[in-house]
Amino acid sequence: MAADGALCIAGVDLRDLAAEYGTPLFVYDETHIRDRCREAVRAFGPGNVVYATKAFLCAAMARLADEEGLLLDVATGGELHVALAAGVPPSRLVFHGNNKSAEELRTALEQRVGLVVVDSFDELDRLDELHADGLPPPDVQLRITPGVEAHTHDFVRTGQDDSKFGFGLRSGAAAQATTRAATSPSVNLVGFHAHVGSQVFAAENFAKAAAVMAEFAAPYELPTLTLGGGLGVAYVEGEVAPSITEWGHALLRAARAAGLSGRVLVEPGRAIVASAAVTVYTVGTIKALPGIRTYVAVDGGMSDNPRPVLYGSGYETFLPRAVAADRTKLVRVVGKHCESGDLLVREGRVPHDLVVGDLLATPVTGAYGHSMGSNYNKVPRPPVVFVRDGVARLVVRRETYDDLMRLDVG
Ligand code: LLP
Repeated sequence: MAADGALCIAGVDLRDLAAEYGTPLFVYDETHIRDRCREAVRAFGPGNVVYATKAFLCAAMARLADEEGLLLDVATGGELHVALAAGVPPSRLVFHGNNKSAEELRTALEQRVGLVVVDSFDELDRLDELHADGLPPPDVQLRITPGVEAHTHDFVRTGQDDSKFGFGLRSGAAAQATTRAATSPSVNLVGFHAHVGSQVFAAENFAKAAAVMAEFAAPYELPTLTLGGGLGVAYVEGEVAPSITEWGHALLRAARAAGLSGRVLVEPGRAIVASAAVTVYTVGTIKALPGIRTYVAVDGGMSDNPRPVLYGSGYETFLPRAVAADRTKLVRVVGKHCESGDLLVREGRVPHDLVVGDLLATPVTGAYGHSMGSNYNKVPRPPVVFVRDGVARLVVRRETYDDLMRLDVG
């Protein structure tokens, strides 16, 4: 905190950052991300933590994860491209996705990515074709849907039988794919993969999936089992999430209890980056509707954080100038997009003296905000700043109006 009660992150005053880079602005505490990476490596062991880049990816983030000894999960040709362009060695990449194209797989194999997580029989066919074309067999895991229903939002639940992802355990597809992959010259089967969902709080969900997967995997005696990501984080007051360390204990205990002896890998995304960032906006309009509510409109919205609209996610709000002030005024924080659904905080609480021109920040916006952002209404995407030891560095610049025209060729 600054002497006047304003918020500093890593020794940098948010008001200074807003003045220099404008708003909306994503501010990441770099040390916080590094601490989470280190905690994960301590919990699961070196080489066993894969950062799920879908949560937040730019070249600086890819390099940071690599420097901290994490592997990187890339789920599309685009994520693969960014990670490679950032200089991450291909051997440290894990290639995911439920519908990898022949082109994406070709690039992954040509680049010699460390691991391909195969999602379907069609993909096994494509890998056969690439092998026939002379490409070397990649190390692969098979993605299995273990039939475990995680307690989370439907859109981010992935472990149940009725899923577009992976080979079903109960249907027999998993065993069939294993037999095919184990005897195929086109792939080198090194293990299995499961991911039951995202923003999951209950350690027992993870333990259950770990036990089911370990039991399935144990007889094959393959060297690796990846148990996905999915560890939830606390977004609003009153929520409590297990720490990465606690998650590690629950998963490893369950896997060992089920007789698994090989390496256990995990792929956290949100738990690494979510709580490292705040988004800073400027309040532009305050509309008080007597007897109804007060709308506070900021200069961003669903284009920089679609999570409230997509999943009904909640966030806290605070004013960087008075971070510890009592938040006694109930408001709805909305964006500048042309639809009523464009809200950032449905039931926000702010200090009573909030005025137009104030900076307003939402914490815990480091995961699936920037990465799922859009330029709907041609609102330029916000920049990203990393702060560390009193120093700020711009790692993604703000999109410009010219950027918005870059793809128009007609
Ligand atoms: N591994 C796989 C195979 C995944 O599909 C995912 C996330 C992860 C790891 C990382 O999960 P995490 O640790 O971040 O929960 N857009 C949604 C989340 C979608 C998650 C998709 N897959 C949200 O904003 O809540």
